[in-house]
Amino acid sequence: MKKPVRVAVTGAAGQIGYALLFRIASGEMLGKDQPVILQMLELPMEKAQAALKGVMMELEDCAFPLLAGMVGTDDPEVAFKDADYALLVGAMPRGPGMERKDLLLKNAEIFTVQGKALNKVASRDVKVLVVGNPANTNAYIAMKSAPELPAKNFTSMLRLDHNRALSQLANKAAVAVADIEKLVVWGNHSPTMYPDYRFATVNGESLKDRIGDAEWNADTFIPTVGKRGAAIIEARGLSSAASAANAAIDHMHDWALGTGGEWVTMGVPSDGSYGIPEGVIYGVPVICENGEYTVIKDLPIDDFSRAAMDKTLAELEEERSGVAHLL
Ligand code: NAI
Repeated sequence: MKKPVRVAVTGAAGQIGYALLFRIASGEMLGKDQPVILQMLELPMEKAQAALKGVMMELEDCAFPLLAGMVGTDDPEVAFKDADYALLVGAMPRGPGMERKDLLLKNAEIFTVQGKALNKVASRDVKVLVVGNPANTNAYIAMKSAPELPAKNFTSMLRLDHNRALSQLANKAAVAVADIEKLVVWGNHSPTMYPDYRFATVNGESLKDRIGDAEWNADTFIPTVGKRGAAIIEARGLSSAASAANAAIDHMHDWALGTGGEWVTMGVPSDGSYGIPEGVIYGVPVICENGEYTVIKDLPIDDFSRAAMDKTLAELEEERSGVAHLL
């Protein structure tokens, strides 16, 4: 049996946490031969800590063979101690009447503290996935607050958007999700993201040619993927949690264990390619191998795509300038 790895999860008693932790402990994220120690962070409030205790009791009751230990805490430095993986799920939700700007600043405080704690106590190779919204900017803040860790270790979650887009495309083209390759979702995890299937193939054939419906792309596909989160809230009365947890599992699984040459979307600090300023955390196509991701470079960008990519970039730059004074 391999040596256990330490997986930190914040917001562990929340909706996504509840859909996530059991799957990590069962080996779905890092493999059925990889024991894990779960290090769970929640707010210090009595209710949050009690809920976390309940989740830990249930984890215990599953008797997962791969669960080699558990820590529940309200201290980021305890949760992130020697962490090999950190899934930053907990965030301040938007309250009634709360301005977007205030939300950004509240979360900036949280992710500054957590970035500093990661910098101080996590493994130098820690792989960080930010799920809590605004995910890209929160990841940027955590990265900037952790100068002693490699910037490339900080990523944000676009995988839910990627998976949503895959299913919409599979339905439209009447093909299997598993047969679609080379899909990209560019930009911010927000309704401005740009799902782009110009390069996508189905068994080697162009998916765009197969669909052959440019109007559907602009009028139905892109808005459906962009507004899917709101549609789920409308239908369920609660935000997407199981699908978000599933996407987090996919993201970390692929980063750690590889994609076998297939493209997936990750929010990663830009290296300047595609005209995205260096350091901005932006959704791009990557392949993963040996625990590292590599951005797919030099894809042709047409005018429609450029405009869509610039729009989502403008939103990210606005978010970044809103928190610049804190960094
Ligand atoms: P939730 O409100 O059910 O759970 C959040 C948990 O985080 C709560 O238990 C809360 O006590 C905890 N928390 C808040 N601040 C914390 C902090 N500083 N340290 C530790 N724990 C903290 O929310 P849910 O549904 O689990 O969603 C979590 C986040 O994920 C939200 O920001 C949501 O917008 C985001 N999200 C992101 C998606 C993506 O694709 N990137 C998709 C779906 C949700």
